[in-house]
Amino acid sequence: MKKILLLLSVLSLNQITAQTFTEPLPIPPTVTGTVFNLNVNESTYQFKPGNITNTYGVNADYLGPTLIVNAGDFITLNVINNLSVTTTMHWHGMHVPAVDDGGPHSVINPGETWSPDFEVKNKASVYWYHPHTMGLTNYQASMGAAGLIYVKDAEESALNLPRTYGVDDIPLVIQTKSFDANNQIQISSNMDNVSMVNGEISPYVDAPAQMVRFRALNASSSRTLNIGTDDNRTLYQISSDGGLLENPVPVTRILLSNGERAEFLVDLTGETVGNTFQFKSYMSEMPSNIEGGAGSAGHPNPLFGTDWSFMEVKVIAQTPSAITALPGTMTTLTPFLEGDASVTRPMELSSNAKINGVSMDMNVINEVIELGDTEIWTITNVTPIAHPFHIHDVQFYILDRDNGGGPVAPSATESGLKDTVLVQSGEIVRVIAKFEDYADPVIPYMYHCHNLIHEDNGMMGQFTVVDSSLATSEVLSESIRIYPNPSFDYVTIESSEANNFQNIDLFDISGKKIMTFLEGTKTLNISQLQSGLYFLKIKTSKGELVKKIIKS
Ligand code: C2O
Ligand code: CU
Ligand code: CU
Repeated sequence: MKKILLLLSVLSLNQITAQTFTEPLPIPPTVTGTVFNLNVNESTYQFKPGNITNTYGVNADYLGPTLIVNAGDFITLNVINNLSVTTTMHWHGMHVPAVDDGGPHSVINPGETWSPDFEVKNKASVYWYHPHTMGLTNYQASMGAAGLIYVKDAEESALNLPRTYGVDDIPLVIQTKSFDANNQIQISSNMDNVSMVNGEISPYVDAPAQMVRFRALNASSSRTLNIGTDDNRTLYQISSDGGLLENPVPVTRILLSNGERAEFLVDLTGETVGNTFQFKSYMSEMPSNIEGGAGSAGHPNPLFGTDWSFMEVKVIAQTPSAITALPGTMTTLTPFLEGDASVTRPMELSSNAKINGVSMDMNVINEVIELGDTEIWTITNVTPIAHPFHIHDVQFYILDRDNGGGPVAPSATESGLKDTVLVQSGEIVRVIAKFEDYADPVIPYMYHCHNLIHEDNGMMGQFTVVDSSLATSEVLSESIRIYPNPSFDYVTIESSEANNFQNIDLFDISGKKIMTFLEGTKTLNISQLQSGLYFLKIKTSKGELVKKIIKS
């Protein structure tokens, strides 16, 4: 039987037609609490008949557990790099200090553990973690070092929503992928020819005859999804990237670009046990400028331009205490007001993976933002293809989209909190965000195209959030002298005026605090450090100053 199927799939160019939906959807295990240990490891996984595939996983052979955290909790994530290469781990969508954000600066060397800790300040929704290693994000995420984060909060918990994990509340990490002839994952721009959910190709899932909640993440490298069912049933979208929508929004398609999340309900109440339907990605209905969209007729890739099913749903018996009704109003959204914005920042997406005319440079801070400011970012796409634009640190609101006919307010499904927005060719999308809570004059946050191929090609920039109510670095700079610099063993800090050093912290270039010196210390012993670049953060009675020092 397997042999015949294999033969069929070889004979048919279109591998997706050889679907069987015979394997159950794997449900990633959950981890709760406030301390999380994430082992990023190399492994193997049998995705398809034939050769076993080399993979990455987090506490698993492929992908990682779903981390369930509560708003208001202070959490620690111990990321243990068991790979033979450097990696990083980013908490996509989460509002955290730059030093804990896991951007490309926060390198974790093989064998090392990185332990960011922060308060969970996001609203209830689905977030995710994935590597953000400079130039390797696509590879490392495609290999499987990624997973979901669910934030819970009081508002969402009070609603009558399905929340029995894996039963009536089903996580969907949707990916398209490209395998080479030896079944190995390959990084290719438009040849992804297989779709999978939670690491299983064409699975089925049992869903009880009641209201069922799906939490979808598009974790594909570059393919946008256009989710619907083969019988065009109504999906009630209840959340966008960063939180609940005001009311469930009935739709038949959910356009989900790379990195975006959507939660939706499907009402299976009263449905006959044994009924089946399929979830599909309706690529033929997407504008051709969107990766995988229409207009790709004749493209050798079976996932391009055509509609394909990625999962079958089998209706099973209703569970006790089932939810069978839609919730009413779920939240009140209070978008930032245009009038509150003090800065308008242009973001032009142009060809050759550039933003505002430049490519990502780890040594260049492209934008500096004042802590507490509300800003409007005007994202203009002058390229022939669509780009999913993502901003770290914040959740934003979409003000409007202008596709040539003037600005149009966002649709109901896009009226909630977002961290990633698809900007189509020729389109101008204005978003508004408030940069609050966390300032760091040294460690930047990223903004980038979340098409991981584009990101790795440099379609990314860096911004710092600074608090200029602290004494400016220049003023302090003049009064504080650090010598010798570079130094091999001792560094002396001297101040020209009565300036009490209250606290001196030493950070490595990844932003990891590695030494703290006691109040009053003027001579620092750095003889134990490896040679390289470090930052001294000096707190004085006059303010805070960050100085680069070099250990020779
Ligand atoms: Cu999903 Cu900069 O990341
Ligand atoms: Cu992110
Ligand atoms: Cu892009």
